[in-house]
Amino acid sequence: MFTLSQFCPLVYLYAFGRDILIVNEASVATDLLENKAVLYARRPTWSMVTLTGRQDNIAFMDYNNRQRKARALLQGALNPKAQKQWGPLLEEETTHLILQILQSPESFKQHIRRYLGTFITRFAYGTTKVEDSVLTLGDEISMHTQQALRPGRWVADTAPLVLYLPDWFPGMSFKRWARHARTKFREYTGRPFRRARDSILDGAETQGMVPDTLRDIIAGTSKYKEEELVSAASSIYTAAVETTYAVLMNFLLLIMAHKDVQAKAYQEITSVTESTRQPRLSDMTAMPYIDAIIREVHRFNPVTPVIPRSPVRTDSYRGYRIPQDTWVMFNIWAMTHDTNIYKDPHLFIPERHLPLEHKDSAKDPRDFTFGFGKRICPGLNLANAQIFLFVTQLLATFEIRPPLTADGNEEEVDINYSSTFVRSATALSSRSSVYR
Ligand code: HEM
Repeated sequence: MFTLSQFCPLVYLYAFGRDILIVNEASVATDLLENKAVLYARRPTWSMVTLTGRQDNIAFMDYNNRQRKARALLQGALNPKAQKQWGPLLEEETTHLILQILQSPESFKQHIRRYLGTFITRFAYGTTKVEDSVLTLGDEISMHTQQALRPGRWVADTAPLVLYLPDWFPGMSFKRWARHARTKFREYTGRPFRRARDSILDGAETQGMVPDTLRDIIAGTSKYKEEELVSAASSIYTAAVETTYAVLMNFLLLIMAHKDVQAKAYQEITSVTESTRQPRLSDMTAMPYIDAIIREVHRFNPVTPVIPRSPVRTDSYRGYRIPQDTWVMFNIWAMTHDTNIYKDPHLFIPERHLPLEHKDSAKDPRDFTFGFGKRICPGLNLANAQIFLFVTQLLATFEIRPPLTADGNEEEVDINYSSTFVRSATALSSRSSVYR
């Protein structure tokens, strides 16, 4: 097992025909992404990201005026003040999820994905009833994005010259795949937006980011353009659903493996709710142990273990030259496992985040896991609120236990993760949840 002291803060590689710099230390991330924020605000260019049309998504767009406007629009709709708009919807959807899991606990993964997709679609487009076909399309584009980002998978990323070969040339099937993925992405960008537009033109009073902003745009009272709203709305499905799903799966895996933590969490929840109601967003500050568990879940397995950026011009740092267009990969996993910041980083210890139990409580890992500077995750308040509601409402209702073996003993929990761009728990069996 590695500890960070075995890593250098900066590692340079020349691979796949490009300069790659891996940043393992949080202080370097702050120096580059906060103190030289504009220089490092750009993402690297991936051939497959471009071929699949993802340069129209805020997360991959160049750091230009259009990106900044669409981002600002999104931030306005997601900030803590706007919580009074989306908070009640989130509480309603989370309680609905718990009822669904009660009805069929063995399908908990499907219920959770559906919950995340439904909530984010209602938040963005304000549709009261979300069509299954929109969720299917959202999941399809998420899968395409994950596949397009898979390192080393595509010849177009390792040898970009193949892009100039004709489509019929042997080995060019990736172009057909990318065309299909781009068509689906365009369909997702257009369909729910048109539906929301038509319904407000018909006088519907639905609320949500698109209807609220579009009414102002149509009335000529908004500082945003319709195309910026389209970008903001269509960019969040994958960004929100894949990451939050991975955090929730990670939570389930870790809480299943740590019964003592689960018991303490249950005690804290019931001491606040007195077992008379489901937890609400307003309970957040009254549950420090739950907050500590959530921090530790983020730290133990950061679901976006690497954040990619690329300087717009050549930089020099600590005497090293960082050429323009270098792929600078910020290794978030190394930062949340840095022994200078977290003692025994390979152990799951929520208590390390409690100021009363630890004289100096550990640094909040969410300062790393949601990114830095100009491209910091705009959805972090919403994600924190959603994870809190999920964790508390679920633990108030269920005990999470490993599946049983044939002879009736609990299986050993296998803590393992996928190697995709968003890193998810791989070993969660659908037999894992047990009704309290
Ligand atoms: C636990 C859940 C989440 C995690 C761990 C997470 C993490 C991240 C990270 C690491 C980045 C890259 C930041 C950087 O480059 O410095 C990012 C970007 C982004 N996230 Fe999140 N995110 C989460 C949930 C959400 C949600 C709920 C939304 C929307 C509602 C969202 C929307 C976005 C968008 C649009 C970007 C691209 C920002 C840009 O490139 O300017 N995320 N997220």
